[in-house]
Amino acid sequence: MQLDSFVVKERPDSRTTAPHILPIYATSSFAFENLDECIAVFQNPTTAHTYSRYGNPTTDVVARKIADLETFNLDFQAYGIMTSSGMAAISALFIGLLRPGEQILTQGNLYGGTTELLTDILRPLGIEVIFADLRNIEQTEKLLHTHPRVRIIYAETPANPTLACVDLLALAQLAHHRDAWLAVDNTFATPILQQPFAFGADFIVHSATKFLNGHGNSIAGVVVGRDFELMRQKVWRTVKLMGANCSPFEAWLAHNGLKTLALRMRRHSANALALAQFLEQHPAVSRVNYPGLPAHPDAEVARRQMRGGYGAMLSFELKGGFEAALRCVNRLKFCSLVPTLGDVDTLVLHPASSSHINVPPDLRLQHGITDGLIRVSVGIENPDDILADFEQALAA
Ligand SMILES: Cc1ncc(COP(=O)(O)O)c(C=O)c1O
Repeated sequence: MQLDSFVVKERPDSRTTAPHILPIYATSSFAFENLDECIAVFQNPTTAHTYSRYGNPTTDVVARKIADLETFNLDFQAYGIMTSSGMAAISALFIGLLRPGEQILTQGNLYGGTTELLTDILRPLGIEVIFADLRNIEQTEKLLHTHPRVRIIYAETPANPTLACVDLLALAQLAHHRDAWLAVDNTFATPILQQPFAFGADFIVHSATKFLNGHGNSIAGVVVGRDFELMRQKVWRTVKLMGANCSPFEAWLAHNGLKTLALRMRRHSANALALAQFLEQHPAVSRVNYPGLPAHPDAEVARRQMRGGYGAMLSFELKGGFEAALRCVNRLKFCSLVPTLGDVDTLVLHPASSSHINVPPDLRLQHGITDGLIRVSVGIENPDDILADFEQALAA
């Protein structure tokens, strides 16, 4: 071999002891010993890696860990696929499973991006979307009766940003009775506080950008499904062919976050409850949405299907409406105005002007996403600092 060829040639087979920490496989592709091996692997792609858009050792480990968390202590295994974002996970789920003429039954108070995906991307492709109040089980049952082509009931619980919670067990029973699937966005609760599979869900999606990562340094998503074949044939193929795969580096960053997820969710929940209780008794506040408050309309449902806390997310409305919300957000010093959630520090957002800016105002208002609503992702700081900041920001 010539020197210039020698410096180019990959020599990846040097031996070492096993790495303690998950390595980042920064490689687009995987080499084969010979053509026989190549043919065998392409015929059965689950046996080894070929090309990182199809699967990557780093990304696959993270997907498996999230799937294992979602089935922890349940008596079955699920299959996870990492995607380039939470929206890629939701898109792959719908595009993979549905055909034109089929229907999705969902709630009007979803994350704004999901509502936009349903109305502006999927509807024009011929997938019908029905928005309803999924908390009303009787009405949901009637809608399933009048819309026989519903293939997926899609729920977000607790929902962004109203923290409305839906009864997963009841919805799973309704869906299965009609030969449909229940898919759940579990971003807010994470598997630490809620396992939708335990209540019969068929698919779970996450924005791994949020709590799973926890440190705000990567964008990623994941789809987890009970049925391996369905996941491989429908969801994995869609992720692979749309190129919606997660980069190994982004997956690796999420994996670092996963290690402290249980600790963080407990502290997030304790801090959020403390802030919710503080806001609830504040004279400037007209309403606090937090499923851990007994006054929350869905407190009973949340108590039944969540455990160990009610999460970091809350929202509240001020008596002074939009003007008061503007003043409060602008006066916060310790908490940051940032359009994301799930990080270790406390973040606030005004949904009507950011995350839900493209949701039709009548749909948004109908579901309580008013102009005066402030959303808080309560961090894991010392709770005294968080409460003191809101106290000074709300002072007359
Ligand atoms: C509940 C929920 N689901 C999905 C998403 C989309 O996730 P991503 O931004 O990672 O695409 C978000 C984003 O805020 C969200 O809040």
